[in-house]
This record gives sequence, structure tokens and C-alpha cells, in this order.
Amino acid sequence: TIPFILDTDTAQDDCVAIIAGLLDAEADLRAITMVAGNVGFDRQVRNAQLTLSAAGRLGTVPVHLGCRRPLVLPWVSAENVHGDGSGGLDMDFDGAVTEAEHGVDALLRLTAETPGELSVVAIGPLTNVAMAAVKDPTFVDNVKSLVIMGGSNNGRGNITPAGEFNFYVDPHAAQVVFEAGFRDITVVPWAPLTLNDAVFSRDQLAAIEAIGTPLSRFFLTVCGPTLEFDESVGIPGTTHPDSLSVGVLLHPELVTRAGRYHVAVETGSTLTRGYSAMSWGVHGLEPNARVIEAVDGPAFHDWITGLLATDTEV
Ligand code: BDR
Ligand code: CA
Repeated sequence: TIPFILDTDTAQDDCVAIIAGLLDAEADLRAITMVAGNVGFDRQVRNAQLTLSAAGRLGTVPVHLGCRRPLVLPWVSAENVHGDGSGGLDMDFDGAVTEAEHGVDALLRLTAETPGELSVVAIGPLTNVAMAAVKDPTFVDNVKSLVIMGGSNNGRGNITPAGEFNFYVDPHAAQVVFEAGFRDITVVPWAPLTLNDAVFSRDQLAAIEAIGTPLSRFFLTVCGPTLEFDESVGIPGTTHPDSLSVGVLLHPELVTRAGRYHVAVETGSTLTRGYSAMSWGVHGLEPNARVIEAVDGPAFHDWITGLLATDTEV
């Protein structure tokens, strides 16, 4: 199995990423660390707990609260896309169980306990990961591989013309992370990858509905608001870059094309805030990341659909 920490701003596709991290046979999810992003911080924590509960795993994985705002800029939400991030679900179980230890300290401690063995999958703004690297630079050596959902390699943003949400919300953190010297960074970009290979269409959602498990119903509920939003902007379904990021770590065979790039993130501009400049090697810049360019889309969809068939009733 593959041990890793999931750093998340839990709403919609983050919920699906947590499900994958809990239920896939290859996954050894050691901790969840929460970071400011999609929706209100406390709501994100509830969404993570709801997801653990839906997967029948409440209390089995520690949930650590991390940074409540970006490094420099004020927090920006994606509530217009995600609603409350859970499709209006609420908890019918007691309280949210969270750890006293801060998310940044959990990242540092867990990776230092087994240097070079734990990976980190970061599917929200990179504030926690940057803070960990700044607080203790040995972090970058202790992390086996860092998978980042963020940016685009065709210049196309989703919150602004140039800005993908995770990099846009905390561009300074993203820039710190790309310059920190991690040995192995993989980037799962928004466009074109997510739009090409990680959209669940209405037909695919109907197939998920037909599964009829509590988990498949949970998936459809949490994806409801983004399905509506995505369709309103011309995307033929609901987008799932976050679970794809977990898939890239657990099932490298999903990746069909990837390239080595030097990635830098724009911090100075208003117009292009969070833009990810990906240089393919002709500009004298050393590559600092592997960027996923294509995956086996049908295999990714089958993987998620299969996990949603898991019987979670105890
Ligand atoms: C990213 O932004 C968030 O809204 C999603 O959860 C995903 O991590 C896509 O740009
Ligand atoms: Ca996310």
C-alpha cells in the first residue's frame, strides 16, 4: 500500500478524493489536513467528517485543522461553485472529531517519523504545504512525493481567465512550494487535463445512480451544485481533478502522458494572479515538476465508479 497525507479544502471533488483515499485497496491514508479554500473553514471540516462517515470510516483517520487563510492575500471562496460543498447534507452523528495538533505540525511530524516514505496529495491551496516547508526545511526531504492539484498548462483558468482556483487563492504559497526543492512534484492541472479526462457526464452519473449504494447517493448529492455550475459554463458534467490526483498517486498506470516542466506561479499581477507558467525546457529553466498531460479517462471513471459500489453499511 501507499502511505500518504491528504491536504484538502473539503467540498465536492475533495469529498470524492477522501473516499478514494479511504477505500482504495492501495491506499494507506495516514491523516487529513485541512486548508482554507473552497468554502468556510468550519464547513469544510464538517464536509470532511460527513465524507468519513459516508465511507463508514469516521474516527479512523485523524483530521488536523491547518491554515485558515492564505499567506498574504485575503481568502477567496468558491461558494458560488460548490454551495456548502456537501450538496446541503448535514451531520446526523455527534460532533466533528478533530485533532488538537495543527495541520502544519502534523505534516511535519508524520513525514519526519518515516523520512522519505510518506507522500502528500495537496488538493486545495498550498498554504499548509508552504508553511511546513518554511517552518522546517527538512520537510522537503522527508516527503517522498508531492502531488499537487492546481494550475493549467494551456493558460486557461477557472476563477479568472488565467487563474485556476487553488493557485489563485494562495499564489504565494504555490510559488514557495515550487521553489522549495521537493524531490518529486507531480502537478495535476485543471486544463486541459481535467476537462479532457476527469468530467463525469450525465450518462456516467446515471450509471452511478444505478449502483444504488449509500455511497453512490452521497456522491450524487455532493456533486449536485457543481454539476449545475459546470453545465452553466459549458462543461458537459461535473469535474473531478481532486480524486484524479489521488488516482495518479495510487495508480500510476492511469497516466498516459506526462512531461517535465519548470513551473512558476504568478504572484505580482492582478490580471494573471495564480497563473502557472510551465516552461518545457527551451528557456534555460531546470524542470521542477512532472506535469500530467493525459490519463486513461475511462479507467479513471471506472475506478471511481467501482469505489462507489463499496458497501459501507455496518
Ligand atoms: C480546484 O479548485 C477547487 O474548487 C476544487 O476542489 C479543486 O481542488 C479546481 O480548480
Ligand atoms: Ca479542492
